[in-house]
Amino acid sequence: MATSTTVEQKRGDVCPHQIAFILDNWLRRLIQSPRKIVGEYLNEGDTVLDVGCGPGYFTIDMAKIVGNNGKVIAADLQTQMLEKVRKKATKHNVLERLSFHRCELGSIGLSASIDFILAFYMIHETGNPKGFLMEMKQMLKPEGKILIVEPKMHVSAATFEELIRDAENEGLKVLDHPNGKGGRSVLLTV
Ligand SMILES: C[S@@+](CC[C@H](N)C(=O)[O-])C[C@H]1O[C@@H](n2cnc3c(N)ncnc32)[C@H](O)[C@@H]1O
Repeated sequence: MATSTTVEQKRGDVCPHQIAFILDNWLRRLIQSPRKIVGEYLNEGDTVLDVGCGPGYFTIDMAKIVGNNGKVIAADLQTQMLEKVRKKATKHNVLERLSFHRCELGSIGLSASIDFILAFYMIHETGNPKGFLMEMKQMLKPEGKILIVEPKMHVSAATFEELIRDAENEGLKVLDHPNGKGGRSVLLTV
């Protein structure tokens, strides 16, 4: 499902897997609880997409919340990140609830029907926010939700506003600008 804008993403824009430890450690757990950030949007049995999952900081907790009848798709550009998630999932005994998808530069490239999509600290890396919004909308169930969180350090208020305008132009509706999610945040639906 690659679009004509896929070339806009450059390798240098992407958080390298070699520094994945900065995304999953005790310090982050002190300040960003995965359950507090995404728990309120998840139900048992849900199908979830963690796009740009990195080393799985949110993936594992989401797999625990959706339970045996749920599914979490861990999607990332870097196979090394997906391998880290696989190892962690094995350790936490949730591997069967996960599936893995390797995205292409600049696009998700997945066909699925999803209850909740998390795009945490990743949209700004893609170089193709509009394309990602369009793909996410196509995968979302009618009552589904998308939570986008972007880091204030890398994404200005104006750029985030532009992202929200792009989302609305793609036909997504803003449900909330939730506080306390760890950055500039918007909750979207179709
Ligand atoms: C800053 S990390 C955030 C990881 C994770 N969401 C977290 O909060 O711990 C951004 C992640 O997005 C991934 N990413 C960047 N571009 C992507 C793309 N086009 N498709 C899928 N993943 C991508 C990177 O490989 C990296 O793992």
